[in-house]
Amino acid sequence: MLSIANATGPKPYLAGLLSGFLSCSLPVAAHTDGDIHLAHWWVSPGEQAGIAVIREYIERADLHFSDTAIPGSGTARYYQTLNQLLASGSTPTASQVIGYDIHLWARQGRLVSLDDVARKEEWNEVIPYAIQQLSMYDGHWYAAPFNVHSTNWLWVNQHQLEAIGGQEPDTWDDFIVLLEKARQAGIIGLAIGNEPWEQTLLFESVAAGVGGVPFYRRNFLELAPQSGDRETFEQAFGRMRKLQEFVGDEYTRMVWSDATQQVHNGEALLQVQGSWVDGEFTAENQQPGTDYQCFRFPDTQGMVLFNADQYMLLNESDASADTRRKLASLLMDSDLQRDVNLASGAIPARVDATRSAFGDCGQKAISDMRNANMRRTLMGSVAMGNAHPAPIKEAVYRIVARHFQGDINDRQASEQLVQVLTDSKSD
Ligand code: GAL
Repeated sequence: MLSIANATGPKPYLAGLLSGFLSCSLPVAAHTDGDIHLAHWWVSPGEQAGIAVIREYIERADLHFSDTAIPGSGTARYYQTLNQLLASGSTPTASQVIGYDIHLWARQGRLVSLDDVARKEEWNEVIPYAIQQLSMYDGHWYAAPFNVHSTNWLWVNQHQLEAIGGQEPDTWDDFIVLLEKARQAGIIGLAIGNEPWEQTLLFESVAAGVGGVPFYRRNFLELAPQSGDRETFEQAFGRMRKLQEFVGDEYTRMVWSDATQQVHNGEALLQVQGSWVDGEFTAENQQPGTDYQCFRFPDTQGMVLFNADQYMLLNESDASADTRRKLASLLMDSDLQRDVNLASGAIPARVDATRSAFGDCGQKAISDMRNANMRRTLMGSVAMGNAHPAPIKEAVYRIVARHFQGDINDRQASEQLVQVLTDSKSD
C-alpha cells in the first residue's frame, strides 16, 4: 500500500505530509490488464483490515491488487488529493466514494457506467432504494455500494458502564443522567475529535432525536424547512452545547479514531460515531456485549442514518472493460460483502445478506436496516454527504463547527442553518 499519511496522527502534520507526498511522482496507474489499483481513505486499523479482505478477493480472482490510501474520510481533503493524482496521470482503476459526490463525478463524465453488470446481477432488486439514488445518476449505475454504515450509534465502554452503574439511555434525559455519572466518576463522558464532519455527525443524531423522522427528511433530504423548524434546530444546538460539558479538553488535538482509543482504554465512557468504530474494536479483539456496547442514539431508535461506501470506476484509467466488469461484480459479491464488513464494522449493502456471521452489533444493524428500508426511515447521513450535495454539506459543517467553537450561539446557528437549507432548495 502507498499511504499518503496516517489519519490517526495529529492533524497539523497532515498538510505537510500531503504536500511532501504529492511532490513525488506516483507509480499508481494500472499498466497491465488485470491490474486493479484502488484509491481509498481506509487508513485506521479496522479500515485496513477491510482493505485486506478486498485485496484477498481480488487476488483470488487472479487479478493484481495495489492501492493508495489517502486520509480524509470522504471529505474535500480526500477528493482534492485524488484529483491531483488524476491530473498527474496516475489514475486509479477505482476510488472509494460516498453519497452525492458520485453524482458530481458522473455529471463530469468521468465515471464508467456499470449498467451491464448491474442489470445482469439485479442490483436494483437487492440494494435499498435510498442507496440506489446515490449510486445512480441520470438513470445509470455509476458506483458499486459494498457496505452500509450507520451514524446514529453510541459506542460505549462496557466495563466503565458497569463501574458507574449506568444503563442504555432511551431518551435525551437518560443520556444526560448517564453522562453526569461518568463525570462524577472522573471519566470523560463523550469522546470526540476536532473535525467539522465529526461534530456534524453528532449534530445529525441530536437533530434527528429532537425533530424526528419527518423533520429530518424535510430539512436535510428535501431541503424544505417549514415554519417552526428553526426553533427545533435551536433546541438541537442547545443540546449540542449541553453535550460539550462532557467533552475532555484534549479533543482539540484529536480525530475520531483517537476518540475510539479513549473509549477503548476506558478514559472515556462513550463516543457517538459511525459503525466503523465497531471495526476498530474488532481489530483490537474487543467483544460486543462484554467489552463494549452499541446503543442507538437516544430518541432515534427506529431510524438508520446511513453512509454507504461505494467504489466508482474512473474512465481515465487504463483498465480493460473486462477487468472493470470483474471488479464491479466482485465488490457486489455476497461473500466479499460479508467478509469486508465483518472486518470493518459495517454491514452488506444487500438486503439479502444473512445475519448469522455477524456479531451482536452487526446483527442489530442488519435488522435495523431492513426495518428502516421498509418504513422509509433509512435516511442519508448529513455529515457523510449521503443527505445532500457537498456544497450544502460543507455549509452545514461550517455552521456546526463555528457553534461548537463558541463563535455563534444557538439562535444564530439555527438561523444560519435554515437559511442555508432554504437557499439550497431554490438554487
Ligand atoms: C467514512 C467511511 C467509513 C469510515 C469513516 C471513517 O467516510 O464511509 O467507511 O471509513 O469514513 O474514516
